[in-house]
Amino acid sequence: GTAGPVLGVETSCDETGVAIFDPGGGEGGRGLLAHTLYSQIRMHADYGGVVPELASRDHVRKLLPLVRETLSRAGLTVADLGGVAYTAGPGLVGALLVGATAARSLAWALDVPAIGVHHMEGHLLAPLLEPDPPQPPFVALLVSGGHSMLIEVSAIGRYRLLGDTLDDAAGEAFDKTAKLMDLPYPGGPALARLAEQGRAGAFRFSRPMTDRPGLDFSFSGLKTQVLLAWQASDRSEQTKADVARAFEEAIVETLTIKCRRALAQTGARSLVVAGGVGANRRLRAQLAEAGAREGFRTYFPRLEFCTDNGAMIALAGSLRLSAGQHETPAIKVQPRWDL
Ligand code: KG4
Ligand code: ZN
Repeated sequence: GTAGPVLGVETSCDETGVAIFDPGGGEGGRGLLAHTLYSQIRMHADYGGVVPELASRDHVRKLLPLVRETLSRAGLTVADLGGVAYTAGPGLVGALLVGATAARSLAWALDVPAIGVHHMEGHLLAPLLEPDPPQPPFVALLVSGGHSMLIEVSAIGRYRLLGDTLDDAAGEAFDKTAKLMDLPYPGGPALARLAEQGRAGAFRFSRPMTDRPGLDFSFSGLKTQVLLAWQASDRSEQTKADVARAFEEAIVETLTIKCRRALAQTGARSLVVAGGVGANRRLRAQLAEAGAREGFRTYFPRLEFCTDNGAMIALAGSLRLSAGQHETPAIKVQPRWDL
């Protein structure tokens, strides 16, 4: 096991996240002593998406200052650290290497264990940072920019993939749909904001793959439906909001149907929702409502821990280090990695 607080480093995409989690410490935040985040979103917005080379360079610039800032907010020095965790994949390889290299070097210099964490395990465990955390067994819906997965969690560290996306991830569908209606990058939150102005029933899009059994997703056809409806419309601001609302309803209802199906199939009574799309208000409301009606409990991370952050990596790493896991000093990342 590991004694002492664990530093967590997240650099898989366009957010530099750093946090310190102490399994034995902290009151309200269940061991989370401090966390900081630098988002590169404004830099990438000019290009309409994440530019990998720019992302890597910005992580280099921001990571060590954030480590210093996080230590200082926690009232610690590096000498107090008992371990270092970092996102080892999946993600952009150059961005991952920045975090992996810094984290491993620090751990080596301090003579403490280091551990590479799966980014999606980080997302999956983020609700454990909240008071009254979920207990396995539970079903997890992981919906981010790169993934849409349903996972059966029989214990922390024991995961079984129940369903996956056959094409676009849920967040990717939000982002691409937003882009074709000329909304600013990143499109997901912008489209969700716009959807609040949309009128119910003005448009209706299909709920892909809900009319047959199975837990896989497919969202790319939805994007095409939106494109055709948008091009055939008057393209007014109100219509844009109406289309956004109908699109959001289609995604949210599809996700809700599959979650209910996964719960029925596994017999689990708890549902964890995480990843960037987990910040979507309609999704949170609809799943909570289904849970209240059908007798399952829903668990969400706080909004800032739905999207990428260091806290979930510090927590996941701390759990793995406490279980005695760590690695040889070789620096290795996996841009593609099954959970
Ligand atoms: O988990 P995350 O920060 O990064 C990945 O690991 O991909 O997720 C980012 C994704 C983006 O596609 C973004 O558009 C989406 O989450 N997203 C949202 C909302 N906030 C973020 N999608 C819908 N509604 C939101 N409120
Ligand atoms: Zn993520």
